[in-house]
Amino acid sequence: MAIVSIATALMLAACGGTGAGGGAATSASAGGSAAAGDTLVGVAMPTQTSERWIADGNAVKEGLEKAGYKVDLQYANDDIPTQTQQIDAMITAGAKLLIIAAIDGTALTSQLETAASKGIKVIAYDRLIRDSENVDFYVSFDNYKVGVAQATALLYGLGVTDRDGKATGTATKGQKIELFAGSLDDNNAHFFWNGAIDTLKPYITDGTLVVGSGQDTIEQAATLRWLQETAQKRMEDLLTSTYGGKGTGLKGVLSPYDGISRGIITALQGVGMGPSIKEGLPVVTGQDAEIASVKLIADGVQQSTIFKDTRKLAAQAVTAAQDFLSGKTPTPNNTTDYDNGKKVVPSFLLEVDTVYADTIQAMLIDSGYWTEDEVKSGVAK
Ligand code: GAL
Repeated sequence: MAIVSIATALMLAACGGTGAGGGAATSASAGGSAAAGDTLVGVAMPTQTSERWIADGNAVKEGLEKAGYKVDLQYANDDIPTQTQQIDAMITAGAKLLIIAAIDGTALTSQLETAASKGIKVIAYDRLIRDSENVDFYVSFDNYKVGVAQATALLYGLGVTDRDGKATGTATKGQKIELFAGSLDDNNAHFFWNGAIDTLKPYITDGTLVVGSGQDTIEQAATLRWLQETAQKRMEDLLTSTYGGKGTGLKGVLSPYDGISRGIITALQGVGMGPSIKEGLPVVTGQDAEIASVKLIADGVQQSTIFKDTRKLAAQAVTAAQDFLSGKTPTPNNTTDYDNGKKVVPSFLLEVDTVYADTIQAMLIDSGYWTEDEVKSGVAK
């Protein structure tokens, strides 16, 4: 069974569809032995304000439909009560399995209890659902490594290490940086932060880097709901409180997500920095390869992003769903790291890549994730 599952996963990943903006995740109903027929699968996604979740939702839906399932795909506008109501409605409508990317990872306990009492399997999608026994599987990326990759990109941009994280030994001392984190109710935010801080720590300890504002805890750095405007406001406040209102001396900003990066960049440019890195804009990292940020990277404005191929994640979720719905147990590749407070949830984690201006072509265009036109315009077609 394990071999079948892995083979299916690889096949589905290899069949990755036509693009981030709505590419199919799978090509056929590979591996599903039970007749899918009228089986309904509920897919709960957090928000449509970020392209990545639209791409995720579309890819999961198409993959499940190709496998013969009926799909109820819902977005919750980043509103917790909306998401709980949507999940309640999916259960009432007779869904046999739920795939959920939670808004607040701690807010779904009662929905999942109901699901379990009806024998409905639950797959946590990208974000771990916490405080519940009733999470059957988790598909995501290696979130700690995302944080390591973000910090490494920052270190590379500041001349402290090479792209692989090897110290150059020639870095300027006392370079000022600022740190941003994601939403504290999203389990991933903590993994990204820990990976990044573990990577930056030695260089903060030896004085190569200095967190100018002194705001170096995840609570201080957090951005509720990952909102661009919230990040922009915090960056503006930091520029006023710590950098003389002009950004004087600020060299780099750790950002965990492209929306946050664009908020930070707007604030920096707003006080006259840049507009590009060449012209003195601080190095700003990112995540998700959102098209607006990929354009900024191509234009030399945002330094990097972490590419998480949502087509592969969707394919993985579809494989796990097919396994559960045909009475099998999906095969995890991690059974140690994702403790949700009640149990360690068996997980399947995918690898990530760092994108810089000179790797956009190979990683994003050649792989069919974005087209050249989309990168040029910064808009998903
Ligand atoms: C996280 C996810 C990131 C990013 C962020 C904001 O849970 O892992 O890739 O999308 O949410 O949406």
